[in-house]
Amino acid sequence: MCGIFGYIGSKNASEVILEGLKRLEYRGYDSWGIAVVADQIKIDKKVGAIGDLNQLINLPRSNAGIGHTRWATHGGVNVTNAHPHFSSDKSFVLAQNGIVENYQKLKSALQKKGYKFQTETDTEVIVRLIEDKLKTASHLTSGKVDLKEAVRLAFLELEGRNTIILVTKAGRIIACRNGSPLVVGVNGEEIFFSSDTLSFAPYVNRILVVENGQMITWNGKLQLRDIKSNKDLPYHLEKIDFKNSKVDKEGYDHFMLKEIHESPYVVSQVLNQDFKLYEDFIKTLKEAKNVYTIGSGTAGIAASEVAFYLRVFAQVNARSVIGADMYDYYDLLTKDDLIIAPSQSGETADVLEVLEIAKKKGVKIASYVNMPGSTMARISDHPYSAHAGPEICVMSTKVFTSQIAWGYLIAKVASGKSKEGRVNLKKLVEEMDKYLNTNANHETIKNLAKILAKHKDIFLLGKYQNFNIISEGMVKIIEGSYIHAHGIPAGDLKHYAITLMEKGVPVIAVVSEDLARDDVINAVNQVKARGATVIGISPAACAVFDHYIPVPDTGETSAIMNIIPLQLLAYYMAVELGHNVDKPRNIAKSVTVK
Ligand code: BG6
Repeated sequence: MCGIFGYIGSKNASEVILEGLKRLEYRGYDSWGIAVVADQIKIDKKVGAIGDLNQLINLPRSNAGIGHTRWATHGGVNVTNAHPHFSSDKSFVLAQNGIVENYQKLKSALQKKGYKFQTETDTEVIVRLIEDKLKTASHLTSGKVDLKEAVRLAFLELEGRNTIILVTKAGRIIACRNGSPLVVGVNGEEIFFSSDTLSFAPYVNRILVVENGQMITWNGKLQLRDIKSNKDLPYHLEKIDFKNSKVDKEGYDHFMLKEIHESPYVVSQVLNQDFKLYEDFIKTLKEAKNVYTIGSGTAGIAASEVAFYLRVFAQVNARSVIGADMYDYYDLLTKDDLIIAPSQSGETADVLEVLEIAKKKGVKIASYVNMPGSTMARISDHPYSAHAGPEICVMSTKVFTSQIAWGYLIAKVASGKSKEGRVNLKKLVEEMDKYLNTNANHETIKNLAKILAKHKDIFLLGKYQNFNIISEGMVKIIEGSYIHAHGIPAGDLKHYAITLMEKGVPVIAVVSEDLARDDVINAVNQVKARGATVIGISPAACAVFDHYIPVPDTGETSAIMNIIPLQLLAYYMAVELGHNVDKPRNIAKSVTVK
């Protein structure tokens, strides 16, 4: 998952692209590159995150260019492998988002033809393939094959999910999409190309989403073409409003802390959903033969809690499949089934692949995303948006909270208890707000973060509504601290994990006043008996806790409240360890490659 950006217009291209890449950095920040068209194409590219750049790059003023922020898939993190990549005659540069799954085969065929390669990337194979098409195709048609046709022919040979963008010495832009997202923003004479709409939000109010198998070019005017048939396609620019696209820390030290503090806001946004738009979906939900909730990473855990709420509050037989690993379900899917996909970006490749296969089988699709115009929203029968505002920190916090609060509310609506659900969420918003604005809570958690940051293994215990919560706590600690954390289903402790319990082992136990409370307290006693140090997150203190993080008891929504102290704990641990909180190593915000 990388970020690509292109610009044509009256502003200075390198500055617009720089700003765009900073907003795309969540998609990967191993290296970045910007190419602009002056008397010839000039490139500046560096290893590291573009956001850390505090001086303007040294590129000439220009009105056309492309940029790329990279999450390395093929080839190490160095300047040579950074995109964009030049053609041999420097007549164009190319950047790519995706993986060319058949790049080895293509590369050896090109090497046999005498092409040389400077990088280890699959991207450079695309550049050489285009050059080859320029040569061979013109022999075939004994006419001049223009670059656009060469790009089209080359793109048809790529296997895998790929999106590419080129800019030529003449200031022409050509982009093709198959998989990784590609959107175009228009503002009068200015044209923006990008991996997401947020990155050009301040400048445009009309967009065009390029679909898979389409090529978009700008050569004085925009042209949309079907890559396979080579036929021009009509297109229309849809209006889009970016009211809350403001992206700054607003006084917080990190986006992560700001976004955790937005939890009450996002839950109130769930309450602001227009539930008149939910009637069809709720009907489908109650009539579906099978309901699957799917997602990857944090969204996969949210999907699991959504399924939990549907089972417990709506008696819907929902099951979750995290990592969207649905291979063993494909033959069971029928048109009577429903898939519900929470996703921050709406572009996660693993989930999109499942949705595309399920759609072909007539499965109804519902999505709950946080990115306007995203692919998941576009292929859904029931697209819903979190309206949670931009989530910049790679570690998802407020959107996770939004996803599970939404899951709780649709379960209550489906069971005819919408009013009760809304009252409970309103109470939750108040409790969350109070909790986040009580300094003592932060101090308690900060002190515990200092202790936990010294450990190499951290365990979490939970059950029933809190199992997914401790799983998400595990993910947050791992993502932010790079420390091994392990969420143990309390009911399974005695079957394996208890062998790991010994003096001083830290165990975080999340306990709610619910039917699983005694089971979890029993498990806590068992780890204590073997010397573990227990941190209890619970509405009531308990003698068995060595440390205690109080949380309000919010009844049916307790699990949603309980994720807040865990998110804060992960945040303060990452800060304590001096890590790049908003951009942890090796991961990216949106994984648009398989
Ligand atoms: C991971 C992110 O890479 O992808 C998680 O770090 C996210 O925060 C997961 O939940 C799935 O992405 P999305 O956009 O589908 O929520």
